Amino acid sequence: MPSVYIKTYGCQMNERDSEAVAAQLVAKGYTLATGEGSADVVLINTCSVRDTAEQKALGKMETLAGTLRDRRPAVVLGFMGCMAQSRGRELMDRVPDVDLVLGTQKFHRAGELLEELLSGRRSKVVETAAEPRSEASIREHLMPESGGARSVSAFVSIMQGCNQHCTFCIVPHTRGAERSRTIEEVVDECRELAARGVKEVTLLGQIVTSYGRREIPARDGRSGFVQLLDAVHAVEGIERIRFTSPHPKGYGPDLVEAFARLPKLMESAHVPVQSGSDRVLRLMHRGYTRSRFVELATQLRAAQPGMGLTTDIIVGFPGESEEDFAETLSLYREVEFDNAFIFKYSPRRDTPAATMPCPVPAEVIDERHARLLSLCDEVRKRKLGAMVGRRVEILVEGASRRNHSRMQGRTRCNNIVVFEGSPRHKGQVMDVRVTAATLTTLYADPAIHNPD
Ligand code: 5AD
Repeated sequence: MPSVYIKTYGCQMNERDSEAVAAQLVAKGYTLATGEGSADVVLINTCSVRDTAEQKALGKMETLAGTLRDRRPAVVLGFMGCMAQSRGRELMDRVPDVDLVLGTQKFHRAGELLEELLSGRRSKVVETAAEPRSEASIREHLMPESGGARSVSAFVSIMQGCNQHCTFCIVPHTRGAERSRTIEEVVDECRELAARGVKEVTLLGQIVTSYGRREIPARDGRSGFVQLLDAVHAVEGIERIRFTSPHPKGYGPDLVEAFARLPKLMESAHVPVQSGSDRVLRLMHRGYTRSRFVELATQLRAAQPGMGLTTDIIVGFPGESEEDFAETLSLYREVEFDNAFIFKYSPRRDTPAATMPCPVPAEVIDERHARLLSLCDEVRKRKLGAMVGRRVEILVEGASRRNHSRMQGRTRCNNIVVFEGSPRHKGQVMDVRVTAATLTTLYADPAIHNPD
């Protein structure tokens, strides 16, 4: 049987999609190649959210085509995911060696289409049409149990698409309209994961707070999303629940209250603010004001005083003035986020912002990006430094990435903790005492872990 290698760019949803396609192919008998050099099929799962992500994937495919096609003419090269969806056939004109372009609603057909390509029945395939129920169409969602190290933490896709239409964002074009899996489907997957030893699930979607908005009526004041959290909370063996990405508008009272009510729901919330200026927020079509956002941050911290708040911010949105940017800096200081992803605005095709007046010059964007990044580091350093000496609960994920003789876990607020442990700690929830902090990592003393 052929071997496959999947290279993934972009968000956690892309990682999950790559896992699902790999699982589907393994179920058909494929093996997973350890590198692109030896694979019969190489797929690149792409991201379109900023131009740099697209350029990286295109560059990678050009390099692969240049090196692999000569050596192994029969190799099948494919793009899948967001850029495949938004650019379609155009990608084959750009890199003529590409055999397959597989959109975001066609992952379940990867096996069948690859078979046609490998057998020579077809030579070029572009599949990007919309497909009803594609959010639930991959049957082999999970890898077969045998082989590979067991994961402690897993991603679970709960919905696809986004109807929000923020003016900067390409996602409604790449992922389509909102479609949710049922609560039963998600719970079944969580049960199966728990049976395999998974202790933590991260529920994924482009706008998870809109989960079930049309399909699931509110019950006792609880939205479909909070009903889902309740249902996943009841799954035995799952000890920690996270979710991403939400929209600030979706943090209604029921969700804020869930953070206080559900012990398995980690006190960590990613709340993408994008800008601190009301004027820019309006142009972005975000649907909230700065003061509402600050109120939400206060409510979340009232529900859980230790709440870790992280955010996404775009600098250099068209028309962003120095005053607007100053509002973003002051919001950052006011909320004291625990961490942030800071992005330079990148015009995306077919989005309203791409044609808005007064684009910000690249050097101004670079300068604002650097200023915000340094504020972000300053706040993060102070907040992580304040953790030293504290006792924190971690879930041990496995060996530290940097130093394999140490173990690594995550706090409830999602900070990485490295400590001198042993592999038997993997999968355990234990208390450690923080001894040192860098900008990215906490170091801890394992002396006081829980028995068993
Ligand atoms: N330019 C820059 N950043 C963007 N994001 C989304 N679209 C763009 C764009 N056109 C950022 C937002 C979003 C994150 C996933 O990517 O901050 O929350």
